[in-house]
This record gives sequence, structure tokens and C-alpha cells, in this order.
Amino acid sequence: MLFINLLLATTSIFLITYGIISIPKYLSRRKIYAKHGCLPPPSIPQRDPIFGLDLILQFFKALKENRRNLSMNQLFQAHGHTFQSVTLGTTAVYTIEPKNLQAVFATDFSSWGVEPMRLFAFEPFVGKGIMCADGAFWEQSRALIKPTFTRAQIADLHLTAYSAHVNKLIGLLPKDGSTVDLQPLFSRLALDSSTEFLFGASVGSLSPHSVSTDARSFLEAYDYGQMVVGRRLHLPKWNFLTWDKKFWDSCSIAHEFVDGYIARGRRICEQSEKGNVAPERYILAHEMIKETRDHNDIRNQLLNVFLPAHEATGVALTNVFFNLTRNPSCYAKLRQEILDAGEQAAWTFERLKSLKYLQYVINETFRLNPVIGTNTRMALRDTILPTGGGSSGTAPIYVKKGDRVTMSFYALHRRQDLFGDDANVFRPDRWNTLRPVPWSYLTFGGGPRVCPGQQLALTEVGYTIVKILQRFPAIENRDPVNQFLEVYKITTTSRNGAKVGFPTP
Ligand code: HEM
Repeated sequence: MLFINLLLATTSIFLITYGIISIPKYLSRRKIYAKHGCLPPPSIPQRDPIFGLDLILQFFKALKENRRNLSMNQLFQAHGHTFQSVTLGTTAVYTIEPKNLQAVFATDFSSWGVEPMRLFAFEPFVGKGIMCADGAFWEQSRALIKPTFTRAQIADLHLTAYSAHVNKLIGLLPKDGSTVDLQPLFSRLALDSSTEFLFGASVGSLSPHSVSTDARSFLEAYDYGQMVVGRRLHLPKWNFLTWDKKFWDSCSIAHEFVDGYIARGRRICEQSEKGNVAPERYILAHEMIKETRDHNDIRNQLLNVFLPAHEATGVALTNVFFNLTRNPSCYAKLRQEILDAGEQAAWTFERLKSLKYLQYVINETFRLNPVIGTNTRMALRDTILPTGGGSSGTAPIYVKKGDRVTMSFYALHRRQDLFGDDANVFRPDRWNTLRPVPWSYLTFGGGPRVCPGQQLALTEVGYTIVKILQRFPAIENRDPVNQFLEVYKITTTSRNGAKVGFPTP
């Protein structure tokens, strides 16, 4: 009896406290709702509307079957440009409305973040840094890396080093017309370039016999660690769920490897301060050493930048050649433009930008096959999305703290009302007249968190295309499967790579 009374008393206290806290909150939300005319977006049908287990299963099924972007696009086609679902008690709004993307990325930037979703998953592996922080910590991280990414430094200094990697890659391409998959070669190119740019010395994966044992075990550890981080993003925040010795060993290997580069960087910076060695070109590790003494901070920031840097340009190049090889007339037209431009003493960002058709080919590839297909943010406080609610799909939407918004660049870039009836077709010439609606073309994200590596990536991608097309008069598709099958990780890559032949005349 005493136990039942105690239970009743505790339950009553809990309910009263809950009511005291939540009723005013509810009323104030209702007020804002009414003031702004907020309405919820359509909900997608769910068999389990409380936990959304059916949706979670569908998500993992689509992931396993490598059709995550495709199935997301199908949902938008079926339910409109904005809809919502409930998973594990959290509301998620899915949207491809440019106005909503503008609010999340720019005009209402401070209401949205990534830290509550990413920090737990990323921290053991890459520490707290630019990719998994919000607020003041993120601002400091961004300021720390900014000088290294400025356009002048990239254009003038980085390309000189990059050209050596591209020469190695071209040396590995078959000259007898036999088939080659460009995907692994482009991913090694991106790896070699990013390790040089970030750490000050390339792992040299395009010359496989010269890769050191340390670099090899770092790359293996990084691959494994990244895979487990991906898993941790979708699991409850308990370390024991990923208490896999190999993961924690991988974290230590990655840390020790970068520590070696930081020690080397410190020696170089000390020598250059004393005037004993000429300062090297801009290297992120060295710039950070000059800015801060905190060893862990330098290591975390480097590992955080390495995450997006080490494969994005490789994926972008694979996608460009995937499309060119299926459109030989575009290859021929682009080659002619490059030959007409003649050989340049230095291919800077500006010179590459002046090749119009080259830009069209790159834009069109990023439109159809964005390297990052979706982007998710969590509401850090109650806020409002400007459009997508109600049956008209135009009312503002009230979003509670902790709710998520998922934006699919893949589906956005295929909207026929924005990109034309042939939005699913690779047609670079559309960029001759196309002026995308603001916030409808977002390969590199936007707002304060826009990709800082954008100019670097565009310069590297453009330069590599120019060099390969100068060398090879024609290209042939050697992949019997014509459509783009996806592998969805942080980036979206081609499951079948880019299998090509460069026929001899
Ligand atoms: C074609 C190549 C690339 C594409 C398409 C790309 C795309 C993106 C996108 C969409 C974001 C925003 C992610 C978000 O909002 O959560 C991003 C962020 C970022 N990217 Fe890139 N990226 C590329 C290459 C690079 C390279 C080469 C580097 C570095 C060398 C780099 C460094 C970063 C960093 C550090 C962030 C985080 C920025 C922040 O949160 O403030 N990216 N990238």
C-alpha cells in the first residue's frame, strides 16, 4: 500500500512539474504559430508514427542497396518539396525549397547546428574541430584555417605542387587503349594532394612502392575509423555500442601519424623563423603551428579538415569523367576549347575559370551528381522555416529545438521547375543561359559554413581535366552499365567507378 502511495505521489509530482514547465512553453509556441500563420508540412505515411521504426528500416535498406539519394528523390516527387516524418520521437523536416535552404544556411544560421548530431560520433576519432562544432568553437576553428584557403595562395602556390601529382597520374593511364578505372586513381590523386596541402608531405599513393609503412597504416586506420564514425552517427550515444578494439586502435594510429607531422612542422617553422630555411608554400599544419601552441587543437583541426578534403575532389573528378565518357561529343567540344586556349605558363584559378565550356561541364556534373548529396542540421532553438507548410505548401513551418531538417542537394538539383524538363539529362550547354534561382544550386553548401575548400577543389578539378584532355584525343566508355549507381557515404560515389579507354588514333 505504502509503495502504491509513493508511486502515485511521485507520478503526480512528475506530471505537475511537467505541466508547469510545458504548458507555458506550449502556449507561447501556439502564440508564435498563430502570429506567423505556421502550419505543419505534409507527413509521409508511417506505420509506426511514434518511433518511426518503419522509416528507419527503409533508410537502412536504401543505404544497403545504394539508392539513398534516389529513394529520397522519389519521396520528394511523391510528397512535394517539403514534408515531415517522425523517427525516434524527433520530427525531421525534409525540404528542397530554396527559401528554406537560405534560412538554414544563412539568414537564420545561428538557430541551426551540427554539434549535437556529430560530436559524439566524431570526437574519439578526429577530436572536436570545424566539422563537428557550433558557436564560438566553430568560429575559432574557421578563423584558424581561413588564411590557408585564400584564393591567391591556392592559385599561385598550390598548383605548382599539384601539377607533379597530376603528371604521375597521367603516367599511370594506359596509352594503348586498354581499359582503366579512373576512380581509384583519382582517389589516390586527392589523397596525395590533400596530405601535402594539410600536413606538408604527401603520402605518395600514386607511387605505391614509395608509400611508407606509417602512411599505409594511417590510411587503413583512417578508412576503418571513418566507417565506424558513420555507424556511430546513427546509434544511441553510448560508447560501448562501438567498443570495437580496432576502432579505438585506429583512433590512436591516426593521432600518432598526425603528431609526427606536427613535430616536423614545428622544426620547419623554428628553422624558418631563424632564417635557416626558406618558408615553404602554405601548409595548413604550419599555419596552425604559428597561430596556436595547443598540440591537441592542431591535431584535431587537421584531422577534421582531412575528413572532407581527402576524397571530395577524387569523387568530383570521377563523376566528371563518368559523364564525359557517356557523352563523347562533350569530350570533343571541351578538348577543342582547351586546345584553343593553348598551353599556359601557369594555369591559375582565373585562367581555368575563363574556359567557359569547362565550367559548364563541371557545373553540370555537380548538378546531377553532387559530391555531397544531402545535408542535415538540428534546430538549436525553436525557430521557423519560411515555407513548405499547409496544404498549399507555402505556409511557414514551426520547428522545435532538437528537430532536424534534411536538405537533399541531389533532389533539389533535379527539380524540373528550376532546371528544365530535361533536368535528369547531362547537358552542359544549359549553363549558357541557365541562371539558377538563388539557393537552388548548392554543391558547396552556402552561408557562413560554405565549403572553405571550394576554390582549391575547383582549381584542382579544372586543372586535372585540362591536363588529361590535352594528352588524350578521345575517350570511350568501357562500363556496360550506363546509369550512375551510387555508393552513399559522406560523399556519394559511383559504384562502378569510371571505366574508360583512351583509344589510340
Ligand atoms: C569538389 C569538392 C568538394 C565539395 C563538393 C565540397 C562540398 C562541401 C560541402 C557541401 C560542405 C558543407 C557541409 C555542411 O554544411 O555541413 C563542405 C564543408 C567543408 N569542406 Fe568541402 N567540398 C569539397 C572539397 C573540399 C576540400 C578539397 C577541402 C579542404 C582541403 C574541403 C574542406 C571543407 C571543410 C573544412 C568543411 C567544413 C566547413 C565548416 O563546417 O565550416 N572541402 N564541403
